[in-house]
Amino acid sequence: MSTAWTRKDLLTIRELNRIDIELILDTGRIFKNLLADSGKKSTSLEGHTVVNLFVEPSTRTRTSFELAAKRLGADVVSIDSNSSSFRKGETLKDTGQVLEAMNADFIILRHSAAGAPQFLAERLDTHLVNAGDGAHEHPTQALLDAFTMHERLGEKRSWKDLHVVICGDILFSRVARSNVWALTKLGARVTLVGPTTLVPEIFSELGVKITHDLDSVLPDADVIMLLRIQHERQRRSFFPSVGEYVSLFGLNMTRFKKCKPDVLIMHPGPVNRGIEIASELADGPNSTILDQVKNGLAIRMAVLHLLGGNNAK
Ligand code: CP
Repeated sequence: MSTAWTRKDLLTIRELNRIDIELILDTGRIFKNLLADSGKKSTSLEGHTVVNLFVEPSTRTRTSFELAAKRLGADVVSIDSNSSSFRKGETLKDTGQVLEAMNADFIILRHSAAGAPQFLAERLDTHLVNAGDGAHEHPTQALLDAFTMHERLGEKRSWKDLHVVICGDILFSRVARSNVWALTKLGARVTLVGPTTLVPEIFSELGVKITHDLDSVLPDADVIMLLRIQHERQRRSFFPSVGEYVSLFGLNMTRFKKCKPDVLIMHPGPVNRGIEIASELADGPNSTILDQVKNGLAIRMAVLHLLGGNNAK
């Protein structure tokens, strides 16, 4: 692998180009093979310290970053807001400086404020990785999503032949934003679907199509990505009732019958079963939900490995 990786941080997909994204996906493939070769670990981050700083809840991202760092041989510390000095009013900047003073080589930050990882990255020499910042970006989620699509469909189809429908609460979704950047840079067609209040027309400036009629796009979709309603970020109601949302935008068996037989059904999790997706589809053969979780480990290993100054070997 000859491409050089010189970035200090991974803050957004927006700042990456197609070559960067493909390098991460290729490196992820190497780590997925290494993990499949039972019990194998890398030593590329031996002697390095990785701090998981999660100021918002997480199961998948936090656990897989922790495992990824361990599989690379790093020492790992995890901090959450409830058991840290954030509770006593310590600022993000002071917290970052404390961790840097303890020789943290990487800080993996999840925060409710958009831009928090960038704010810290500009003030520290430590590598910063955005693990989700408010409604802004969730770069490693989009990378693992692209990896999963390529693994399940890409070897048969090139990105330019792929139509990805992303349905749900686009306005408040960092996953949607990072996926739009990643998929359009890779060359896929993207359609955003949801209520008019949650899918504003301004998103069409990102080179995607917008519709408020899920049924009309199902027959042409290769991938349907469902998103959770992010009640924690909404200060008012964006649709009349959950029942109405489910009837217009929930993926159920009736809608599934309108789709291509090999359509991929994706969801970043956590899933609200019976709202954005019926349980039988979430657990069915077209679902990639647990593949996405598994692939998150390989992708996060790739990101830490490359940021640590290693090229894919
Ligand atoms: N997809 C995702 O970010 O899940 P967690 O909130 O569990 O990390």
